[in-house]
Amino acid sequence: MVSLTSSFKLLAQFAVFSAVLAADVNYVFNIANGNIAPDGFTRPAVLVNGVFPGTLIEATPADTLHITVNNQLTNPLMRRSTSVHWHGLFQGRTASEDGPAMVTQCPIAPGHSYTYDIPLRGQAGTHWYHSHLSSQYVDGLRGVIVVRDPNDPHLSLYDEDNANTVITLGDWYHNPAPGIQEIYMAGNNEPVPDSGTINGRGRYIGGPTVQRTRVNVVQGKKYRLRVVNISAYSGFTFSIEGHSLTPGHHC
Ligand SMILES: *[C@@H]1O[C@H](CO)[C@@H](O)[C@H](O)[C@H]1NC(C)=O
Repeated sequence: MVSLTSSFKLLAQFAVFSAVLAADVNYVFNIANGNIAPDGFTRPAVLVNGVFPGTLIEATPADTLHITVNNQLTNPLMRRSTSVHWHGLFQGRTASEDGPAMVTQCPIAPGHSYTYDIPLRGQAGTHWYHSHLSSQYVDGLRGVIVVRDPNDPHLSLYDEDNANTVITLGDWYHNPAPGIQEIYMAGNNEPVPDSGTINGRGRYIGGPTVQRTRVNVVQGKKYRLRVVNISAYSGFTFSIEGHSLTPGHHC
């Protein structure tokens, strides 16, 4: 009798909690080929909703993500099947939604769709997503997932935390990934990127003076920068001129 009462109580509490906080967060990823020029050099790419980096995913820890991937890829220079991995998110009891092609799912074939259903189960923080089919993410299918915790113990440390304070660092190549991969796998040197990008903009040697990413700040205000390494191969050193950095690490 006692245990029955307490389990009713637990159920009641859970119902209140989910009614207040949990939401179904829906995103549509139209994955298609498109020409982009992050560093001024135009090339075809594999893009989420036409942009590099892909659409920013924003949620809170009690939410369940529903991300519908519509595979509209057609360009034979790059991989045309796809799958998406949600890097950093634990998939307790949802391994089928993790993304690695040939491991937890079949690739999504061109012209087909798949909806990833991912209950966040209380996970917060800065994560990212990328294609998990061969080297396809090198061609552009990379983006960021921000799960903001309304009860973040560090809330008092910053005034601003929004889409403008997400900083992605990525390497970029002028040639499609399958060709680069083939050369590398044949025993040649590691691939050297043509440029590095910050929020999808960069410059290459001998290229045009592309307008770099600008993040406007107000002196005296505190900004939470969510710096994400969306690199395919290269390592990065990140610094802010005239400031010292004490990074908080999240993996
Ligand atoms: C960033 O990502 C690349 C590719 O996975 C990796 O080689 C590098 O070590 C990472 N870290 C830094 C700090 O650049």
